[in-house]
Amino acid sequence: MTTPLTLSHEQPLVPGWATGTITLGCDYNPEQWDETVWHDDIALMRELGVDLVAINIFGWAQLQPQPGEFDFARLDRILDLLHAAGIRVNLGTGTSSPPPWLARVHPETLPQAADGTIAWPGGRQAWCPSSSVFREKALELVTAMGDRYGAHPAVMLWHVSNELGCHNALCFCDESARAFRDWLRVRYGTLEALNAAWGTAFWSQRFGAWDDVLPPRATRSAGNPAQLLDFKRFSSDALLDYYRAETAVLRERSEVPVTTNLMVTAHIQTQDYFSWAPELDLIANDHYLDHRLADPLAELAFSADLTRGLAQGGPWMLMETSTSAVSWQPVNHAKRSGELTRTALGHVARGADSICFFQWRASRSGAEKFHSALLPHSGTAGEGWVQSVELSAVLDRLSPVVGSRVHARAALVFSWEAWWAAEGDSQPSRLMRYLPEAHRYHRAMRALGVTVDLVAPGADLSRYSLIVVPTLYTLTDAEAASIAQAASGGATVLITPFSGIVDENDAIRAGGYPGAFRELLGLTIDEFRPLAAEATVALSSGARGSIWSESVRVVDAEVIATFVEGPAAASPALTRRAVGSGAAWYTATVLDDDGVLALLRRLCADSDVPIVEVGFDVDIVTRRSPSADFTFIINHRDLPLTVPVAGLDLVSGETVDDATPLAGGSVRVVMTERSDRGA
Ligand code: GAL
Repeated sequence: MTTPLTLSHEQPLVPGWATGTITLGCDYNPEQWDETVWHDDIALMRELGVDLVAINIFGWAQLQPQPGEFDFARLDRILDLLHAAGIRVNLGTGTSSPPPWLARVHPETLPQAADGTIAWPGGRQAWCPSSSVFREKALELVTAMGDRYGAHPAVMLWHVSNELGCHNALCFCDESARAFRDWLRVRYGTLEALNAAWGTAFWSQRFGAWDDVLPPRATRSAGNPAQLLDFKRFSSDALLDYYRAETAVLRERSEVPVTTNLMVTAHIQTQDYFSWAPELDLIANDHYLDHRLADPLAELAFSADLTRGLAQGGPWMLMETSTSAVSWQPVNHAKRSGELTRTALGHVARGADSICFFQWRASRSGAEKFHSALLPHSGTAGEGWVQSVELSAVLDRLSPVVGSRVHARAALVFSWEAWWAAEGDSQPSRLMRYLPEAHRYHRAMRALGVTVDLVAPGADLSRYSLIVVPTLYTLTDAEAASIAQAASGGATVLITPFSGIVDENDAIRAGGYPGAFRELLGLTIDEFRPLAAEATVALSSGARGSIWSESVRVVDAEVIATFVEGPAAASPALTRRAVGSGAAWYTATVLDDDGVLALLRRLCADSDVPIVEVGFDVDIVTRRSPSADFTFIINHRDLPLTVPVAGLDLVSGETVDDATPLAGGSVRVVMTERSDRGA
């Protein structure tokens, strides 16, 4: 029988911890299959070594075919079958997509776009996050689920809804408008304070009554940026509040931990997961390689590091990824031989103790019928199954890694609020984008073999020697002070352009840009001078900049490089100010890859952060337990590679030394005993 997990802040609450292995799991949608198929599925799951299965993610229509009519018989049977087979269950509350009758009986639950367009049922997640009727109906189901399965011995985790906000994060309907006003009342107290925060003296936007306050619905001109920023905050909070409501129902009925699958990814920005993370019993992420990006593997590493940041550095769970192609990108690339293991280990290297897939058996019908699965359409005869078996065998060998923590001496400050605000309407340049700038620095650090923790503004920075702050357009005074304090305490801090410009209401900080960092950096910006789309400018250091330049006036800083051409010619482009026992650097442009690498090499040298020049196609990351270091080396290129790491390779079982080459496309997890045990 499964031992229920106890909630503890001391221990990482992840399935790997409970089972002592890196957990292999998957979504399973038994509703799509005849019960005779279930038996084959369970036998094959055992053969593959599946430990954890997420079910009932989209079960509502089957469980409640009509209002007031529940039927749990099939769910009872599959749960018991999985339990009998020793497979643990990550049980979905089933509320992510309502059955078609809900929209017929309660059309007011449907979400509305900014232009008033209604999103109809027929896809998924067609519900307004603020809908009281939706919440009532969903909680009815959650109550029944909690009562029925709260103590079922197979259930080791509750999976609330699914990817909250994937399709319905922003709703502009009248009920959302009322909820938005309630949220604003709590934030600001009075209408006067709201008017001041939103700067409504501008364009005759001043509110005389609360009922005039609306969500940022479609307008003919640019809207109010402060209103938009608050609406994003509200929308993130509205879904979090919904998560809390489901969780409260479950907690009254069950001691099993509760979580939901986050989407820490480049194409979803609507939830501020730093505010969500403390409410989840364990941090679980969904990640799919995004081939619309220039470097999908670098983005995988970024997502995994940010997920670990949400887990406060502890182990976390990859709740969904794909074995091969997805079905929702313009071109859905299949993974190459070995890529499944390499990408899965990319997550393990950065702290995941559990690797789960969407999904077990590939669907025959519906919008995802071409999506890959652990058991593909070709069954166990094809290459897909071979890849799944190979991964399972590798994960089995990594048990010693479970519970260890990634060791990083560098941090990158990440902020969903800065992402929302920096890319609003009416900025100096639409080309100046938040996430690409954060990715650029993270990607270069990965290429230098430097492991980076992604942390929230205001986080404790005291353990980091190098801190990168990309485009932190908005932040509070306290957050700015913590960055300045890290520099004076000895860290090397790098701030990149369009940082510290506005306060938390998106109002310009007085006294000259970059208000929040002017003193720390010892400079003032007189004029932003953004560049045209294809333009680049040379710097005196030999680097090139694009997208952004500006006229910088140095007050108390050393000029390391200047612009030699372009609209800011002769103005400082890279500066350094000694601060206490550390330093604060500033770059006034978007540097090219070589420029970023050269700058980071210098900053790593200054801050004593060791580098291993592995390049853009290799991951090298160390996880640390009290007794050993585990260095993951993932060679995504076809050519062999030699890295200076010696010890026992858990993947091959061989002892390797500094000169043992790592074959093209292969992975190594080198275990080295720590002489400083436990330090
Ligand atoms: C996720 C979702 C799954 C499935 C998967 C396909 O966003 O949670 O249900 O749709 O994508 O890649």
